Amino acid sequence: MKDLVVAIDGPAGAGKTTVSKIVANKLGIDYCDSGSCYRAICYLALSCGIDPFSSNLLSLLSEKELILDSGKVFVDSQDLTPHLREPDVSANVSIVAANPEVRRYVTNLLISQKRKKGLVIEGRDIGTAIFPETPFKFYLDAHISIRKERRQGEAIEERDKIDSERKTAPLIRPDDALLIDTENLSSHEVADRILERVRFILRKNRFYWVAQRIVASFFKIFFRYSVLGAENIPKQGSLIVASNHMSFLDPPVIGVAMELHYFAKEELFLLPVFGWLIKNLNAFPVQREGFSRKAIEQTIRILENSGRVLIFPEGTRGVGLREPKRGIGLIARLANKKIRTPILPLRISGTEKALARGAWIIKPHKIKVAIGRPIQPETFFKKNDQEIANMVMEEIAKL
Ligand code: DC
Repeated sequence: MKDLVVAIDGPAGAGKTTVSKIVANKLGIDYCDSGSCYRAICYLALSCGIDPFSSNLLSLLSEKELILDSGKVFVDSQDLTPHLREPDVSANVSIVAANPEVRRYVTNLLISQKRKKGLVIEGRDIGTAIFPETPFKFYLDAHISIRKERRQGEAIEERDKIDSERKTAPLIRPDDALLIDTENLSSHEVADRILERVRFILRKNRFYWVAQRIVASFFKIFFRYSVLGAENIPKQGSLIVASNHMSFLDPPVIGVAMELHYFAKEELFLLPVFGWLIKNLNAFPVQREGFSRKAIEQTIRILENSGRVLIFPEGTRGVGLREPKRGIGLIARLANKKIRTPILPLRISGTEKALARGAWIIKPHKIKVAIGRPIQPETFFKKNDQEIANMVMEEIAKL
């Protein structure tokens, strides 16, 4: 837990503070409001009669030290917290926060905080500049009219503009953060969504890990199983794994190369041993084969949680490479609206001989998995679903 950093970014009025406190409380870890550091410096400047535009604001802190403790900000043991939301401070804080020297000071302060527990930290640049390595990134947003209503009397548009147009660490959505629109959700619902993803990422499926090693050994001996291009598998983050499909052996053959989630027909989960097995190997039930609406929603949810989902663009098993269905394009497009989700093309060979369609007995035929470079979302943003699907099949064909 000590290394757990949950980064919550977003513009003013998106609901970060309430949500961050709920999340910290439920996880039993610390909470930090990085904006309070900029507010404290702004307050100090205003109370000393220093222009917030002044470039050497840090002279204010030459003999003093900002200290963050239990969600409060102190200077020389004076608690500044009660002053941080004063209208004057709110009106000038964006200017102070745009000062590069101030940003450097606050960044160092935030990074060097001693942590006994994990941390939920909210701000504008947490996922991009302060803790860019954390996999637990979230970006909260809501329509400007809603945010204005939530922060009545504050010049929200002006602050948005200064925060997102400044040169140093501007407010931008980290593309590996999950975007949550807080407009129609309560604070508890937003917090629950965050907690769901945090727990998903933290969850270690030991059963999968063990099964993966046992099955890999069997595959290597029985099928002379080999994987080419394993270095192309991204280390973390949401991923659609797209493969050709020829045999029932394909899912385990890919699942041995990397931990995956995949959908399976609902009925299969009712089978005594097999149902238990696939459930514990990350399968999720869908009502019918293919891309029903519910299946699409479930797939996107797993991707939003930073899972890796296996999709066969061609839909069903068949011989050779075939025309893809548009489902993979739809999923890639929708998932990328919320979180960056590349597509990993992969080509299997040999399973059509090892366990052909209609066959019941596996044969010791050589099986190979070739993994290509991930297809980055920038290359398909402007394409429609079918074009994305075609592009994926073309990449698979090159392998
Ligand atoms: O979240 P807030 O309203 O308390 O933020 C006050 C100001 O500080 C706001 O203009 C954005 C800025 N800020 C920032 O630039 N980077 C952060 N990590 C947090 C806040």
